[in-house]
This record gives sequence, C-alpha cells and structure tokens, in this order.
Amino acid sequence: MSAERLVSAAGLDEERQFEAGLRPRRLADFTGQARLKEVLSIAIEAARKRGEAMDHVLLYGPPGLGKTTLASIIASELDVPFTQTSGPVLQKKMDLSGILTSIKARQVFFIDEVHRLLPDVEEMLYSALEDFHLDILIGTGPGARTHSIPIQKFTAIGATTRQGLVSAPMRGRFGLVLRLNHYDVPELTRIVERSSKLLDTPIELAGAEEIARRARGTPRIANRLLRRVRDYAQVRAHGHITPEVAETALDLLEVDRFGLDEIDQKIMRTVLEKFGGGPVGLGSIAAAIGEEPETIEEVYEPYLIQLGFLHRSPRGRIATERAFDYFKVPKRYGGIERQPELF
Ligand SMILES: Nc1ncnc2c1ncn2[C@@H]1O[C@H](COP(=O)(O)OP(=O)(O)O)[C@@H](O)[C@H]1O
Ligand SMILES: [Mg+2]
Repeated sequence: MSAERLVSAAGLDEERQFEAGLRPRRLADFTGQARLKEVLSIAIEAARKRGEAMDHVLLYGPPGLGKTTLASIIASELDVPFTQTSGPVLQKKMDLSGILTSIKARQVFFIDEVHRLLPDVEEMLYSALEDFHLDILIGTGPGARTHSIPIQKFTAIGATTRQGLVSAPMRGRFGLVLRLNHYDVPELTRIVERSSKLLDTPIELAGAEEIARRARGTPRIANRLLRRVRDYAQVRAHGHITPEVAETALDLLEVDRFGLDEIDQKIMRTVLEKFGGGPVGLGSIAAAIGEEPETIEEVYEPYLIQLGFLHRSPRGRIATERAFDYFKVPKRYGGIERQPELF
C-alpha cells in the first residue's frame, strides 16, 4: 500500500483540515529549502520597504513539498490578503476577470496547477500579470468592443508539479521561478517533531527519524504517516511514540523502508528486471509502466535519484548497486551492457 493511498476519498475533507492545522504560518517555521527561503525573504523585505507589490512567483516541484504553504506564508509575511484558485477551477474568462477586478492592491493571488489553465483564460492572465490591465469584450456582434480595464497591482503566485507544461510566455511573466526539492531525513525529522508537538503527541527523536526515513522526502507524507503512527500509539502504546512503536506501526501499514510508493517501485522494477539495470530510455520506462514520460521525469525520478537508486546518463537511466541490493534483484552482466565506471 502506498503512503498516498492511505487516504480514502471519504476522509479527504478531514485530511485537508488536518493538513491546514499543521501548516507553518511564517517563513521562519518553514523547514528546509534554505536557498529558496533566502531568495524569498529578500524579495519580501524589498517589496515591504518600497510598499509595492512583490514580483510574481512561480513555484514548481513534486506534490506535498510545500508550494501552497509557501504561497500563504508569502501573503502573511507581506501582511496582505490571500486569494486562492486553481487552473482547473478557472474555466471561463469571466471567472478570472471577476476575481481580478476586485483584487486588492499588493495582495497575493495564488493559482495552483497553473499548467492547467485553458488557453483563453491564460491569455487574459498575461496582460494582467504584465501591465495590470484586463482586456474585456463588451457587447456582442458587430458592435462589440474590447475595453482595457486597469486593475490593482498584485502579486501572482503560480504553483505547478509539471513545470514542463507551463508555456514559455506564461513562465516569462514570473519574475521569480523557484524549485522545491525533496527534503532530507534531518529536515523531515524536524517537521515530524514540530507536528507532534502541535498534535500533543510525545515522540522520541528516533521515532521521528523512523517516520522521516519512510516519508519519501515529502512533508505531506511525513505528516500523514505521523497521524497513522499516533493512532497506533494511542491504541497500543499509551500514546507515546518510541522508535519501536513507529517501526511496528509503519510495518503494519506496509510502508516501504524508503517510503517508495507503488509507482516508484514499478519504475525501479522495470529498470532492474525488464532492462537489466539499464541504460534504458525514459520513453521505454514510461511505455512499460503506462505513465507519461514527463510525469516520471518531474515527479518520480527526482526522489529516486536523491535516494541513490537511479542515475541519469546520456544513454538513459541506470539502476545503481544500491537499487539492485534493495530490490534483491540479482545482477545480470552480459545481456544489456552496464557502465561499470558509475559504480
Ligand atoms: N517546509 C515545510 N515545513 C513544515 N511543514 C511543511 C513544509 N512543507 C510542507 N509542509 C506541510 O506539508 C503539507 C503539504 O504541503 P503543501 O504546501 O500543501 O504542499 P504542495 O502544495 O506542494 O502540494 C502541509 O500540511 C504543510 O504543513
Ligand atoms: Mg498545493
């Protein structure tokens, strides 16, 4: 069972509330992503000093790494209102013009899944982002006229898991384009400790580390696992999370030792078993598991590479010794040639 799948559809609302409760409100409480935080804090301070709207920001990276959290933190740090929408929700130009004509000066307008805007909505957004006006068609038929309406200067924050799908003109309108990376175990440990405190659940350092290791480099998964472990601890272990309690609970939930989910495992097994460890092209992996190549490249591979399971080479993807060991796949030399210098 993958960590993502621990959430049933019925539990989604509750899950959202749980997440919102653990969301840091200030940049100082946002763990990790040091370079990105530094860039943002400079932009925030400069905008505050000038009393102007901050530059537009595009945040990209795999799900659960803190894009939505950062967007709302930026609004609190700027001390401005926060309005939120998403690409799939904004269906018509009217929806967008409605929001933008009532937008407040310097406020943050967050657009999640910005790669999923429809083309005409996206086009309307261009002029809003670039020179803060809206082109609106008034009237119908031959008498129809385009009016250019000025709007308040605001800060747009776009988020996407698929930056490859953000069009070049769109991307070009964001002054800051920032990537979120997977978190390491010490960072995730700090996040688990902070969340435990908020949840009033005593946890030992090694217990937090056990959860962190299995969280797939992802704070959202770390918090979800913590929640399940806390349930187990409350029912079976007087509410106290020791390393043994964490380990037993996570094993019971069949959470992989490195937090690999079903698709991670499929990718690795394909490279290891079907292609003898590679090199194998991204397209062949994608075809074998029925996923889009870009999704594999942007959402799944970064974590597998960070773990040291997979290498990108000019000739294709290559599984490492470590991957062969972890998946207990016997190494097969011959057949497909591997590159010994990489190991
Ligand atoms: N750097 C971080 N420090 C602490 N908690 C974080 C951090 N990044 C994400 N989280 C937590 O993880 C959960 C998911 O974050 P979110 O911003 O919704 O991710 P995304 O929008 O990238 O999918 C939230 O509950 C948030 O509190
Ligand atoms: Mg989000």
